[in-house]
Amino acid sequence: MIRHIFDQDWTFYLQAETDPEVEYGFLKHQEASLFASRHFDSSSWQKIELPHDWGVELPFDRNADPSHGHRPISEQRGNFADENGTPLRTKAYPIGWYRKNFVVGEDKRDRRFILAFEGVYRDCMVWVNGAYIDGHLSGYTGFSLDITDQIAFGESNSIAVRVDASQYEGWWYEGAGIYRHVWLYEAGPVHIPLEETYIRAFVSGEIAIHTKVSNQLEQSGVYEVEAAVTAPDGRKFSLGVEEVQPNPWEVLDVQLSGVISNPILWELENPQLYTLTLTIYREGIPLDEETTSFGFRDIVFDAEKGCFLNGRHIEIQGVCVHQDFAGVGVALPDRITQYKIEKLKEMGVNAYRSSHHPPSPALLDACDRLGMLVMDEHRQTSSTPEGLRQLTALVKRDRNHPCVILWSIGNEEHQIQSNEFGERAAKTMIRTIRQLDDTRAVTYGGNNGADFEGINGVVDVRGINYIRLVGDVDAYHAAHPGQPIIGSEEASVVMARGIYKNDPQTGYVSAYDENTMSWGSTAEGWWKFYHARPYLCGAFVWTGFDYRGEPSPFVNQDSCSNFGIMDLCGFPKDVYYYYQSWWTAEPVLHLMPHWNHTPGEPVRVVVYTNCDAVELWLNQKKIGEQRVERDGCAHFATIFEPGELMAIGYQGGKEILRDICVTAEEPAVIRIQPDRNEVAADGDVAILTVQLEDAHGTPVPHADRLLYFRVQGGVPIGVGNGDPVSTEPEVFPDLVEDHPLGEWFLRQGGIVIPVSVETPCQEKPWGRQDLMEITEVEEGHPAFNDRKRLIWSVQSSPEECKEYTVSFQGEGGKAQLVFKKIYGEYEIRLNGTQIAAGKDHSTKHRDRDWSSCVLDVSLVKGENRLTVVCKSSTGRCGLHDGVYRRSTRRAVWSRSTFGGKCMLLVRSQQEPIHVEAFGQGLESGHAVIGIAQ
Ligand code: GAL
Repeated sequence: MIRHIFDQDWTFYLQAETDPEVEYGFLKHQEASLFASRHFDSSSWQKIELPHDWGVELPFDRNADPSHGHRPISEQRGNFADENGTPLRTKAYPIGWYRKNFVVGEDKRDRRFILAFEGVYRDCMVWVNGAYIDGHLSGYTGFSLDITDQIAFGESNSIAVRVDASQYEGWWYEGAGIYRHVWLYEAGPVHIPLEETYIRAFVSGEIAIHTKVSNQLEQSGVYEVEAAVTAPDGRKFSLGVEEVQPNPWEVLDVQLSGVISNPILWELENPQLYTLTLTIYREGIPLDEETTSFGFRDIVFDAEKGCFLNGRHIEIQGVCVHQDFAGVGVALPDRITQYKIEKLKEMGVNAYRSSHHPPSPALLDACDRLGMLVMDEHRQTSSTPEGLRQLTALVKRDRNHPCVILWSIGNEEHQIQSNEFGERAAKTMIRTIRQLDDTRAVTYGGNNGADFEGINGVVDVRGINYIRLVGDVDAYHAAHPGQPIIGSEEASVVMARGIYKNDPQTGYVSAYDENTMSWGSTAEGWWKFYHARPYLCGAFVWTGFDYRGEPSPFVNQDSCSNFGIMDLCGFPKDVYYYYQSWWTAEPVLHLMPHWNHTPGEPVRVVVYTNCDAVELWLNQKKIGEQRVERDGCAHFATIFEPGELMAIGYQGGKEILRDICVTAEEPAVIRIQPDRNEVAADGDVAILTVQLEDAHGTPVPHADRLLYFRVQGGVPIGVGNGDPVSTEPEVFPDLVEDHPLGEWFLRQGGIVIPVSVETPCQEKPWGRQDLMEITEVEEGHPAFNDRKRLIWSVQSSPEECKEYTVSFQGEGGKAQLVFKKIYGEYEIRLNGTQIAAGKDHSTKHRDRDWSSCVLDVSLVKGENRLTVVCKSSTGRCGLHDGVYRRSTRRAVWSRSTFGGKCMLLVRSQQEPIHVEAFGQGLESGHAVIGIAQ
């Protein structure tokens, strides 16, 4: 199959509330109306590129649902009440429409076309050329639709997608919209269907392949399927050829196998990937090809000895992660997905739990490439048809990724986890998984302590959410000696970067490793516990990064959680270095807190290090020294005085590292640090860390200043600073203003009257021609002097046509005119020349459609005359909701620093990216990022 990326050139319309005018209808095939219709002109909508999350563009609203990070996506969960206890409702934006046009050439008539969505949050409906194709409920599984029969070859085709994000699947920020990639797959009539290839690759070099061949022709034929493997070093191996003879419209199973001698294994530090190419031939001519990457690796969970990758013991040093990031919500460009994995690897993380839902394909690709193990999680423990559909989609999509080591069938299902409902659901799900993949163990994140009844008793690997809830874990192990155990969730410590005091008033919580949820443990506490027990396979920290929603511990003040080892921007909190010191082999020494406090104030100093001894010095005076035990850290009590705090790390009596914190003066300079000096052209993302420094170049850790950005050569896509309390915007869309043109006149039936084309017409029962009239509504309009103002109705007699005219001043040059709603057939003339013509999409069964359009025009200097002529065979015609001259201004992007830092994300185009950052009284910062050739 050939796949075409379908992320570009979409338009988007946000529907605030249910709009009776926005109906789509299911009466006749290809006759959906309005936004879902084939020819609706959406050029006046916002122009966007996927991935897109409209939730992150909505303004914060403290009354809006905290689990969506106080973004008013949905009305349902606002948990605030007025003084009488009446729940406060907030204006919500739960529905979005997307449209895109595309052309498929005449020469492609014999091909098959499959439209594939990787992820839409959530409950979406898809139309192609006005034909309803299908809907999809889950916000986390992908889906693909064969749209071949709906394609108009050689013509413009349209896709319309209605997305309804009003319902929840989780208790964290889930976003809203088409937030992952969309593809159009093109295949020959005889092809390998999507996601039907399953590769089992063993460390012995043996490979077993199950695939399918689909014949979508009216005749049978003889075809050969050839399997070939390309090694990481480019060497090619043939795995042989299988002959198949599918009947018309038959899908046949095909199995191939072979051996690659001495395969290079997929390892965490050397994640080597092979590629399988399956080619279908007919009489030696290749018809279809599919490539899949895979790796040779072996994973074992042992109940006594823990986890082994390729025969070597590893301890799971894992993190749970939700999928959002600063600035972009859940709509992560692939580069940001990869960046998150890179940051985790630097910290020593070797495993990622995709909690509590299927990850994006880009995430698994990044984990395959970078060497990160994945616990791949299904959303809900359910064996209903919908539950199994989602589970099947997950396993089929992800089973060839070497990074995936465990399937998780869910998390903390309180109603069922300890009873027979849970047991039955789990058994059915495990059976379903085994039919699709028999190489991986199944687990579940249970917070039901030492319970074994229900789900825990039937999964291969017991997932413990929080040792504290189990009580005596050793006793649990002794009671169930055959069951390997993994910590599916641990820690749940809340910390804000650079804050060293809890303050419920402001919503900040201290970054010392001490504030845990009642079920959680400190970083040091849980890690020491696990590391001391070889039978435990390690665990996943809740969480790798902060995430929007689930504001903890201060529900009302915070918009995001504080659980992350890194904040929402991926800026490390101090505890990052605790993990790094015990999870990597590199020498680590990190001093906390920063050194800007009140003179005389007692300050607790913590040093995270894997050195065996540490000295602490303040202004050249030795404060003390300590030995550091394995998996521990050093603590010192000090009294603050400005100057220089220094830690010296020793190994075997020899100094190996120093870390220094200097008291910073007022911020003077802005420094910009891009993640790379060069990015790929078009669509790559530059991740820029913006930091305040004082006049001596010392980072200023406590300064919060508003900064403004100027970006050339690229497009800013988001800002953030990791402040859990911030309600600043993260996205600054272009500013679109629509200006009325002036006084309109309507010529109809021989008379000319002034009209307002902005005012909505009076509602009439649709289709009731006997109610046609021109209505008197308001007195005193200046155009009438002492006469009454007349408002037009769209309804007139079928033979009549309406001619609207307006004169307005232009400066010469280009302009954009927006026609919000036009009923009936229309012709638009500017200064006597026709510039557009068209018609609405009313059909025999429905006559309430309208069209809209945006025209790029050239105006003359001085007076311009615009005429719109409307007519309709049903009599329903006219201009509505206004005609405007549109001006679009680039918004000014800004962000405050938090703890002296903020982040700007810029999407690349074709040219080098220039970024400048300004702030009052600060020397501005600059960065240039080149385009890689
Ligand atoms: C767990 C749950 C997570 C998150 C966490 C917060 O029990 O599985 O989704 O809510 O608590 O501590």
